[in-house]
Amino acid sequence: MTLQGEDRVLCIEPAKLSDAEAIHSLVTYWADKGDMLHRPIGEIYEAIRDFKVARLDGEVVGTGSLHIMGAELAEVRSLAVAEDVQARGIGAGIVADCLVDARAFGLDRVFALTYKPGFFEKQGFRLANVMEFPQKVWNECVRCPFFTNCKEVAVVLDLEKDLGVPIAR
Ligand SMILES: CC(C)(COP(=O)(O)OP(=O)(O)OC[C@H]1O[C@@H](n2cnc3c(N)ncnc32)[C@H](O)[C@@H]1OP(=O)(O)O)[C@@H](O)C(=O)NCCC(=O)NCCS
Repeated sequence: MTLQGEDRVLCIEPAKLSDAEAIHSLVTYWADKGDMLHRPIGEIYEAIRDFKVARLDGEVVGTGSLHIMGAELAEVRSLAVAEDVQARGIGAGIVADCLVDARAFGLDRVFALTYKPGFFEKQGFRLANVMEFPQKVWNECVRCPFFTNCKEVAVVLDLEKDLGVPIAR
């Protein structure tokens, strides 16, 4: 597919190990601005099979990951799009691709903790209470330095209630 309004070739696909540095740079860029949490490079390598990348003429310009939390639940993490190509549908495309995987795995629900709940609501998620995801709170959030002062908002998509929008892969 091409980038909205341009001829440049955009594809969203599973990340390769060779993408880890580019993923780390994107996440670090936005985390330094306070828009998301940092991910150490080692964690990105360990979780590389969770990650998607958006490539624009071959260059990584977006990323996001689908992390399975249990039999029914997964989390969209580390969603980031390069500043100069935002607002062209790339973030929505990465989330849609994560949801294709979530359905293929037979998951019931996908959630995210985010400073941008409005973006996720546009993708069909609804606002949620983080305590709907106790495995996240008690396994991971408790170790986060922002745990007692967390400003992230929980959003969730119930897949069985959502008919889904087919996307080109
Ligand atoms: C949030 C982010 C991933 C969105 O990516 P993007 O490629 O610019 O978004 P898209 O162009 O796919 O937007 C899809 C829709 O969401 C809307 N949208 C985008 N960002 C939004 C926001 N912050 N709040 C509300 N709606 C938003 C768009 O207007 C668009 O609406 P439309 O379908 O009516 O046209 C991107 O802004 C980003 O990387 N931000 C920095 C990192 C970050 O905040 N990550 C958030 C996850 S924790």
